[in-house]
Amino acid sequence: MTNILELKNIDKSYDAYTHILKGINLNLKSGESVSLVGASGSGKSSLLHIAGLLDSYQEGTIIIDGQNMNNIGEDKKTKIRLEKIGFIYQFHNLLPEFCAWENVAYPMWVKGISRPDAKKKSIKLLELVGLQDKINSSATKLSGGEAQRVAIARSLVNNPKIILADEPTGNLDDENTQNVWALLLDLVKQQNVSLLCVTHDMNLAKKTDNIYSLKNKKIVKINK
Ligand SMILES: Nc1ncnc2c1ncn2[C@@H]1O[C@H](COP(=O)(O)OP(=O)(O)O)[C@@H](O)[C@H]1O
Ligand SMILES: [Mg+2]
Repeated sequence: MTNILELKNIDKSYDAYTHILKGINLNLKSGESVSLVGASGSGKSSLLHIAGLLDSYQEGTIIIDGQNMNNIGEDKKTKIRLEKIGFIYQFHNLLPEFCAWENVAYPMWVKGISRPDAKKKSIKLLELVGLQDKINSSATKLSGGEAQRVAIARSLVNNPKIILADEPTGNLDDENTQNVWALLLDLVKQQNVSLLCVTHDMNLAKKTDNIYSLKNKKIVKINK
C-alpha cells in the first residue's frame, strides 16, 4: 500500500525552552487507521497540526500524496489542505445559527459550490453518518454524539484522503464514544480514507490498524 502521509524526522520547538518533537517519523498508508496516544502535553495536538499543514516545524519533511510540502508556497499548501485533509476536533464547533445540513454545507458555500448542490451532498453525508432524521435539526438541538457526527460529515465534504482527528470522542459519554469511534473506523473502510486519530483511550486505540505513542519528544510504535 502507498503512503498517503509521510512525516520524516520532524523536529518542533515553540521557543528555546519548549522543544516538543524530536526526529518524528510516521507513515500513514492509504486506507489505514492509526492512533496516536501519549500523556497530556506530550505533543499530540502539535504533531497533528504539523501533519495538517497548520503549523510550522524546524526540521524534517512532510510528504502528502507523494508531494513534498517543504518547498511549496502557502497558497498551494492551503489548497492541498482543503482538498486532501479533513479535520475533526474534540469540540464539534458547529455554527449554532445553522441546522445540521447547513453546517455540513458551509465549507462548500465558502468554496462557491451552488446551494442546491451543497445541500444534496450534505444530505448524502448526513445519511452516511446515520443522521437522516436530523437533517433540518438546529445545531443547538443535537445531542453531543449527533453533533460530533455532523462534524464528521463536515470533515468529508471535500472527499479528503486523510482525516486528522484530535480526541474526537473526548467530550462524549461512553456509549457515544463507542458509536462515534465505530463510525470513524467504518468510514475509513468504506470511503477509502486514512485516519490519524489522537486518543488517550488505549481500548479505542487498539481498534485501529496501528498505534503510535509520543513520549519524551519521540514516537514509538506500540504492539497491539
Ligand atoms: N502555541 C504554543 N506555544 C507554545 N507552547 C505550546 C503551544 N502549543 C502547545 N504548546 C506546548 O507544547 C507542548 C505540547 O502541547 P500539545 O501538542 O497540545 O500536547 P497534547 O496534545 O499531547 O496534550 C505543551 O507543553 C504545550 O504547553
Ligand atoms: Mg491535545
